Amino acid sequence: MSEPQKINVLIVDDIAETRENIRKLLQFEANIEVIGVARSGTEAIRVSGETNPDVVLMDINMPDMDGITATERIRSKMPGVQIVILSVQSDPNYMRKAMLAGARDFLTKPPDLDELISAIKRAGEMAQQEKRKAAQTMAAVQASGMGTASGGYFPPRHNGKVITVFGPKGGIGTTSITANLAVALHTEEAPVVVVDGRVQFGDLSFFFNEQIKNNLSDVATRADELDPEFIEDVLLKHKDTGVRILAAPPRPEQAEPVSGEQFSKILLFLKRMFAYVIVDTASTLDEITQAAIDEADLISLITTQDIPSVKNVRLFLDLLTALGFPTNKVLLVLNMYDKRRTTVTPERLADISKLEVVAVLPFDDRLVIPAMDRGVPFIINNRTHPISKGIYDLAGSIKARIAAFEKELEEA
Ligand SMILES: Nc1ncnc2c1ncn2[C@@H]1O[C@H](COP(=O)(O)OP(=O)(O)O)[C@@H](O)[C@H]1O
Ligand SMILES: [Mg+2]
Repeated sequence: MSEPQKINVLIVDDIAETRENIRKLLQFEANIEVIGVARSGTEAIRVSGETNPDVVLMDINMPDMDGITATERIRSKMPGVQIVILSVQSDPNYMRKAMLAGARDFLTKPPDLDELISAIKRAGEMAQQEKRKAAQTMAAVQASGMGTASGGYFPPRHNGKVITVFGPKGGIGTTSITANLAVALHTEEAPVVVVDGRVQFGDLSFFFNEQIKNNLSDVATRADELDPEFIEDVLLKHKDTGVRILAAPPRPEQAEPVSGEQFSKILLFLKRMFAYVIVDTASTLDEITQAAIDEADLISLITTQDIPSVKNVRLFLDLLTALGFPTNKVLLVLNMYDKRRTTVTPERLADISKLEVVAVLPFDDRLVIPAMDRGVPFIINNRTHPISKGIYDLAGSIKARIAAFEKELEEA
């Protein structure tokens, strides 16, 4: 049998003497190696990232960040790392909190040597096992082609779906619908991110009245090395609803250009962080729009009753067919509907497109335009209004289609 692997330990305590005492306790253990020390929670996070220990011995009360918060952060970033809490308090409340934060074990200070060693060994074995498993998963993910989307593997939080909202003509309400659909679908359990796919002159963040700080361009330059924390930092969070927004660069001429390939990688990554990734697109078939179509699980196709718009719907559907995109993944929406205009009725539109019209949104400038000007998605304060009902119909169809496809997959 091969030598057991050494267990690498990081000691975290704000008191130098305590750190030294623990180090001394462990120095005669052949299979345990102290690879670093840290004096605070923040330092513990940094040193863990640098040294990738198997086990962290973590104090609770420390200046700047306490050990429980640090435990939570390290566990979420490096799920293989195991944490043993050392605390002067043996309060069951503390213990519970520590366990909830993801600690593996809890010892009271000063620890008994045997107890400490066996806790480290148990946690160390667990850490090495989990790291091996993670490496295998990583290899499998890379082999499947998915891992190439980003530098590091992280366990997916959601099996997210990309919904690309496309209007084959400008000014027909694509962005308005994207913003309101995001609000309709978003819940804490199934969070939504909206992505502005109009890299030049994108206006999505205005519909939420959010100031652009970081944006798509910042993410694109790091598309090969994305990690969830960086993404969280870049996303804007809509104050009223919690919907996340990946904004377009505020000044297109200053922004790094974004390629279709980068955009695809970003969408694939976001699918693992959010339940729904809703993409607002330009009405032209540029590189970004094409990527958004390639990655789409569903496309919401927007039209009005205008003949040019309906004509473009047909052209677009032909294009999708040529690309091999199944038309049962297209959800057709009629916006700005005016029942006095009888040339293109919802029935006629369904006939022309050979698709079901899943939602009809009436023309309502008294509601839509002020909402847009104020940057408040209209659905928030007008839940029962006919136009909001249209948005909920679309959201319902999206959920139903996704459920149907998943059932199909299961049965296959
Ligand atoms: N159902 C509707 N009724 C009235 N006005 C609408 C409706 N939907 C969108 N609008 C208005 O149309 C204009 C264009 O909308 P926008 O969402 O920016 O379209 P696009 O993204 O297709 O360019 C905006 O002034 C918006 O308020
Ligand atoms: Mg738009």
